[in-house]
Amino acid sequence: MPLARAPAEWPLPQPLPRPLPRTLRRGKIAHSSLDQSMRSHGCGDLRPDASGEAVQLCGWVDRRRDHGGVIFIDLRDRSGTVQITVDPDLGADTFAVAEHLRCETVLQVQGTVRGRPGDAINDKLATGQVEVLASSISVLNAVRGNLPFPVSVHDEENTREELRLRHRYLDLRRERMKANLRLRHRTVQAMRHHLEAEGFIEVETPVLTRSTPEGARDDLVPSRVCGGDWFALPQSPQLFKQLLMVGGLERYYQIARCFRDEDLRADRQPEFTQLDMEMSFMDQEQILDLNEALIAAIWKAVKDVELPRPFPRLSWHEAMDRYGTDRPDTRYGMELVNVSDLVAGMGFKVFSGAVASGGSVKVLPVPGGNEALSNVRIKPGGDVFSEAQAAGAGGLAFIRVREGGEIDTIGAIKDNLSEQSKAELLARTGAVPGTLLLFGAGDTATVNKALDRVRQFLAKELCLVKPDRDNDQWNFLWVVDFPMFEFNQDENRLEALHHPFCAPNTTDLGADPTAWADTLPTARAQAYDLVLNGLELGGGSLRIHNSDLQRQVLQTIGLPLEEANRQFGFLMEALDMGAPPHGGIAFGLDRMVMLLAGEESIRDTIAFPKTQQARCLMTQAPAGVATKQLEELHVASTWDPEQG
Ligand code: AMO
Repeated sequence: MPLARAPAEWPLPQPLPRPLPRTLRRGKIAHSSLDQSMRSHGCGDLRPDASGEAVQLCGWVDRRRDHGGVIFIDLRDRSGTVQITVDPDLGADTFAVAEHLRCETVLQVQGTVRGRPGDAINDKLATGQVEVLASSISVLNAVRGNLPFPVSVHDEENTREELRLRHRYLDLRRERMKANLRLRHRTVQAMRHHLEAEGFIEVETPVLTRSTPEGARDDLVPSRVCGGDWFALPQSPQLFKQLLMVGGLERYYQIARCFRDEDLRADRQPEFTQLDMEMSFMDQEQILDLNEALIAAIWKAVKDVELPRPFPRLSWHEAMDRYGTDRPDTRYGMELVNVSDLVAGMGFKVFSGAVASGGSVKVLPVPGGNEALSNVRIKPGGDVFSEAQAAGAGGLAFIRVREGGEIDTIGAIKDNLSEQSKAELLARTGAVPGTLLLFGAGDTATVNKALDRVRQFLAKELCLVKPDRDNDQWNFLWVVDFPMFEFNQDENRLEALHHPFCAPNTTDLGADPTAWADTLPTARAQAYDLVLNGLELGGGSLRIHNSDLQRQVLQTIGLPLEEANRQFGFLMEALDMGAPPHGGIAFGLDRMVMLLAGEESIRDTIAFPKTQQARCLMTQAPAGVATKQLEELHVASTWDPEQG
């Protein structure tokens, strides 16, 4: 098809003259061959040492200012911005073009670099000591219609996210997004560099595959060729990487795209990227050590920070006990204190009843909380109360500790707390005058969830952590010794806490295979999560490499033997053909970049992310398809727009 004819005001881009004049050969922009390029330099590369040089630049109009007689254009490409000065005395044609330029017009500019006079130097701009005196300006492409939002950095914060996602290509022109994508690139580069030096090789695994259970719903793809059958997109490359170990590759990694149909949050996307790794012939200690070195290398390369090693470790039980969560933020204290034994016998039924029915009573001590948090905020309707309520708690009992160890609280607690219990309570919680003690009472899971949520909320409220953008504290933590299983109330069965391929702790399991059905349900897993500032950055485990044990685990989560063989027979078969001991881990790349960039959402670390409703606002995916396509795929839709 012939190309549409360029309108007269859009002259085609001019290749650089050949041979290049000497002054055009010194470009710093990182392009493979400048002599074939449409430009000699990147806009952001010009410095006073280029004064007097003839340059040719390409970029977008960031801003244009008409100073009555002289026009200034801030020209932007990915290297930065430089001021173009257009003087009518140096060419009426050039000036005429400059007079009508709109923001985001794409230009090619030829001109000469010159130093700015002292009073015109702009310290905020890397190129602020120079400007380019334009001799010619070509419009490479114009902007038609209205821009949905201003791209220029000066207006960055005020644009709604929907609009940014709808026109992501414009949003990507902004410095914040460009910096995030550059940082993501450097992160991946550091990963590859480190892992390749450690003997890892990158292998791609299939995207059209069968279900890999990681706890979310699958995204399914119907097969046209094998009518009635479906592929699942991988929730992770878990089984393939294990099979690569059976295949003798010993050290594998992949920057792997994963798909999970689950409820979305600021740190979750339906399609996300993992650094996925698997290793043979290594024990847990060696795997953790290797991964700490990897993380330290990334932080050194990207942030120039030396991380102290080894990273601290916490067992899952201890994490739940002290923080109410398996991914605690350890940048601040406020650890939970279990006081169930102290309050079990007291007359305050909310407390004693919780303990009697097998639950717990735990305290969140808030230093300085007396002054910072009024009763109104803790009682129904208050913001602190609402946080607890959102996590399922019925309320938040509290005690205010005053001078001389006096306590101030609702009558029911005060009247029922003996002097001895009160003294023990203050000692155990480390309370001093000014401390506010917040109580959670009920089933242990809900108490943990509610106090964890309130703890995180208050850490922000009381400024115990810096805002994400300014964070410079990197509290890494390995959480280890997870239980193999947790009980799923809805389905009345055990389910794997990580996934059903994690190896159990050998001591907990015992050597007698006939006892495994009894020992497995309460065994700990040889699994580990890497937590950073309260966010799960990665997780992994040693794997089962014995097919009998694998079958037993699948049966423990409720898969009958035939079903286990049907779904995972290929794995069990492979395990029986000389599978080496192996283990691995996967890190969430998007989350890692989010933390490194100080962003609050992983959407800001992904070039084309989806919304909380799992939609791409730019392409309008997912979208309907023609009936014919469905027929070819042997699929009929039951979707009823009336019912939703
Ligand atoms: P896991 O399910 O813990 O382990 O995932 C590893 C890491 O991936 C990130 N992650 C996500 N990031 C963005 N959006 C999501 N929806 C999302 N889900 C997970 C998290 C998480 O820690 N196969 C195992 C790894 C193994 O055992 O080797 C796995 O996928 O940062």
